[in-house]
Amino acid sequence: MEASRYICTANHGFAAYAQEELFRLFGAVKSTQLLPGEVFIATLQASPEEVAARLAQQLPVFLRHIQPIQFEDAGDSLALERLAAYLNGREELAGQKVAMHLRKSVDYFWTESPGQLREWIQEQLQGLNAEFTVQDPAWVVSIYADGAAIYAGVSRPEDNLSSWNGGAIRFRKDDGQISRAKFKLMEAEKEFEIPFSSFRHAVDIGASPGGWTSFLLERGLQVTAVDPALMHESLRKAPGLKILRRNANEVKFKENEFDLLVCDMSWSPKLMAKLVTGLLYSLAPGGTAVVTVKLMHKKPLAMIKEIIAMFEGERMQIQRAKQLFHNRDEITLYMIKY
Ligand SMILES: C[S@@+](CC[C@H](N)C(=O)[O-])C[C@H]1O[C@@H](n2cnc3c(N)ncnc32)[C@H](O)[C@@H]1O
Repeated sequence: MEASRYICTANHGFAAYAQEELFRLFGAVKSTQLLPGEVFIATLQASPEEVAARLAQQLPVFLRHIQPIQFEDAGDSLALERLAAYLNGREELAGQKVAMHLRKSVDYFWTESPGQLREWIQEQLQGLNAEFTVQDPAWVVSIYADGAAIYAGVSRPEDNLSSWNGGAIRFRKDDGQISRAKFKLMEAEKEFEIPFSSFRHAVDIGASPGGWTSFLLERGLQVTAVDPALMHESLRKAPGLKILRRNANEVKFKENEFDLLVCDMSWSPKLMAKLVTGLLYSLAPGGTAVVTVKLMHKKPLAMIKEIIAMFEGERMQIQRAKQLFHNRDEITLYMIKY
């Protein structure tokens, strides 16, 4: 059977679960660690087409990014020349929009920044007449360089599980930004293509200090924020915002009052799911829910399955379950009520 090799990336500390996901999809997986708990090489017993198809059919939760290894060489300067020669021979890149994703560890011989290394490689590839771009590339050239070796591969962006380099989507922190938690919802918007501006009225459960609430207000929604803790002072008189300083198990809403429910309570997952499902009467059919699920147990895959079943039992259809780049010890569920 044909085997294919990939560099796989998960959030720091979650590589073992990404490996488990690959094992469930492809059977025995031979893997070698590149960056402890985060980046590893996996040899999968399937053709590249099959790998892409199976991953697309069952999108993983913890495996954040995957890039093919089609070129491998020692980690020295001559290897760079050989890499350039190899890429110049990849005719499908000629005249195309190409994104160059480069990750380099600190012990790679090239001491300047990954950006400078990328520029050097792009200069060597001028003969291809490719348009090097970040936005909407037709192809991604992924390069990973560490002290021992340099790896590279060419793939379609949709086959990498993320169109970001290593699946790491970064946002700039705005002046006055209330919390880093806001990045989670910003990432969910991009990653799950959630049209937040199309909703009208959201309930934000566990809203303090107010990063998610401020994001939803920026998208033009009315927001009801529920949290016994104080909201940030910049939000206390915000138009369109109603603040309920209460525990979520004490609040009552009208039926179908909201078309969006978000919850970022960092609480025991089962208690969170019980509490949120108890409030789903207030979410109109067709409404969207975005909920973070804290990973407290040793067996997160089983726990996630259980939490998903609790929501599915309450007419929630799971669109995605994913550990976002900005999730720490948690994952994000994106659901729609039917
Ligand atoms: C991680 S913080 C939320 C951060 C928020 N998403 C943001 O963007 O700023 C979790 C919040 O959940 C709140 N919380 C925990 N249990 C709750 C409950 N039973 N009802 C309401 N809020 C709760 C906590 O008070 C805390 O403020």
